[in-house]
Amino acid sequence: MNNNHTDYPGFIDFLHLIEDYLTSGFKTEPVVLQAEEAGERLQEGKPEQTSTQLESLHNEICACTKCDLHFNRLHAVPGEGVGNPLLLVIGEAPGGQEDKKGLPFVGRAGQYLDKWLQAIQIDRTTNCFITNVVKCRPPENRDPHPEEIRMCLPYLEQQIKLLKPAFLLSVGRISSQLLVESTKGIGALRGGTYFYRNLPLVPTFHPSAVLRDQSLRAKVWEDLKLLRTLMRR
Ligand code: URA
Repeated sequence: MNNNHTDYPGFIDFLHLIEDYLTSGFKTEPVVLQAEEAGERLQEGKPEQTSTQLESLHNEICACTKCDLHFNRLHAVPGEGVGNPLLLVIGEAPGGQEDKKGLPFVGRAGQYLDKWLQAIQIDRTTNCFITNVVKCRPPENRDPHPEEIRMCLPYLEQQIKLLKPAFLLSVGRISSQLLVESTKGIGALRGGTYFYRNLPLVPTFHPSAVLRDQSLRAKVWEDLKLLRTLMRR
């Protein structure tokens, strides 16, 4: 791989998608997967009540001062997507673009993540919610500290309770280790299904890592196909 790809990231990503399609037997279909029992799950929590609770949780996150990350943030980033999602995607922490816009995964890695999801009929506007373990950007995009994760985790727990997703996808080491409760690296954790709060969880690499190391793409597609199979059951 030469370094010219940094000049044409969108074009090269597009070529990789075609390559993935040809080499992994990976086919997109014009079907939007929805959680079969979405209606039932919504009724459990009464939709209007749940969306008010979510809104107030997200307001609370935006005003949070529990750890030092709030000093440098432009915006806290609660997450984006639909209620009762088929899939909840959980990343690490917002980066620079996300901090500017107050939205998760909107930089280059986020655009790449959207392509992954699109390929398995998942989209943040129809059947998915995307969030992070830590809701404020760590300085210089460093790893969040354990204490920062500990302070922020109750927000994720509340989101899971209110959103009632059917499946979880953790991207990257930080969120995967946290949810699987393991200290193994992401290379060792991925490739299987776990449970978090009784919800099936598939861990995979972080899109930024895959943009840096294209040899990881085949493994990500394996994980996405595993997730798609689970969602179709
Ligand atoms: N990386 C993450 O883990 N989350 C984001 O929202 C953006 C980049």
